[in-house]
Amino acid sequence: MSALVIEGSQWGDEGKGKITDYFSQEADVVVRSQGGNNAGHTITINNEKFALRSIPSGIFNPKIKNILANGMVINPKQLLEELHGLEARGIKDYKLYISNRAHIVLPYHEMLDSAYEAYKGSHKIGTTKRGVGPCYSDKINRIGIRVGNFIDEDDFRKCLVEALKIKNEELKMLGLEQMNVDDIFNEYKEYAKEIKKYVCDTSLLIEEELEKGSKVLFEGAQGAMLCLDHGTYPYVTSSSPTGSAVPINCGVSPKSINSILGICKAYTTRVGEGPFPTEIEGDLAHYIRERGHEYGTVTKRPRRIGWLDCVALNYARRVSGIDYLAITLLDVLTGLDEINICYAYKVDGKIINYMPATLKELKKVKPVYMKLAGWSDDISNAKSFEELPSNTKTYIKAIEELTKAKVAIISVGADRCQTIKVKEIF
Ligand code: IMP
Ligand code: MG
Repeated sequence: MSALVIEGSQWGDEGKGKITDYFSQEADVVVRSQGGNNAGHTITINNEKFALRSIPSGIFNPKIKNILANGMVINPKQLLEELHGLEARGIKDYKLYISNRAHIVLPYHEMLDSAYEAYKGSHKIGTTKRGVGPCYSDKINRIGIRVGNFIDEDDFRKCLVEALKIKNEELKMLGLEQMNVDDIFNEYKEYAKEIKKYVCDTSLLIEEELEKGSKVLFEGAQGAMLCLDHGTYPYVTSSSPTGSAVPINCGVSPKSINSILGICKAYTTRVGEGPFPTEIEGDLAHYIRERGHEYGTVTKRPRRIGWLDCVALNYARRVSGIDYLAITLLDVLTGLDEINICYAYKVDGKIINYMPATLKELKKVKPVYMKLAGWSDDISNAKSFEELPSNTKTYIKAIEELTKAKVAIISVGADRCQTIKVKEIF
């Protein structure tokens, strides 16, 4: 039995898509556990770039069962566009399963996402405006519409009537136009017809696969520091991207998970607003942003850049149960004379090595850095840990010491083949 969780251990965009795709070559099942089309997973196959949004990264392999789990919020219109887009590029032979317990994102969720952001003004979260937060709010408020209801026409209409009674009041309150049941119903019932063939009880399916001895990969979206519970609240997403949440998000026993792999960039990025203790600006940030192509997949926003934050990473390891790390985009740091790595925070003159819970404290945090020498040799073709320059090895070892997690994978370029396996974990 082999079940590996792939989780973002920073603020998202760590390269989960590439690492999931790498392990997919040996997987039987790939499960997307949470989030929706706020995610953007970029995968490069034979120099061709694919940006996945809601679809699991195993979609390119016709043998893999790709599952959208109950913890996801699914925009059916966008999902179908994404599928049709893949089909147009020749990806026609795939296996897809959608949980009947996942929630549906409807147009009023997107409208409310933008409206709440505008209402918050300078305190906006910087969301992707894909309606993800408002959809999860409806789930919690118990007025959400699940996939199982959505694919039954009568049920969908009834649920929509009930939801709109409340949502229209909310839209009115925010000065927005109210929505008409028929307009949404007539458009969306057509999407439901197309999606129906993929819908099933995915928890049952995963259990069957695990019992058969299949290799299952759980692919998280976003990252631990964007977690609704453990992230830099309120500057977070509305789901739980931590590996520890996979059992709830996917309907599996915690005991069925073998290892949790935290994906971590060799530096840090963040899109959207909110605290970012190791953020850097100027020429250095520009150098890293350009070399790492650090622009949002979904919103195209330039990503904020910072040094590696091992306080945050160690925290992510603790709250998520990370066993191993995959260090990605290591090649981006090539050419720097010196590399900083944050091992503690200073708050009001006091050194701490944990993540403060409040924004007030987080705003005061000053990173404390260890300075390591950089390297100039091209590492993008390295095939083993031993081959890396000694300064690069020192950097990797420092990360292991500061985070108490073993580095199992090192990624030195976008392509599948630019991946160094340090330890067998799947
Ligand atoms: P939301 O998920 O659209 O509600 O956005 C909430 C916060 O999470 C914002 O700061 C977004 O930029 C961030 N976020 C959401 N999805 C991703 C992602 O896939 N990568 C990186 N940041 C994300
Ligand atoms: Mg992304």
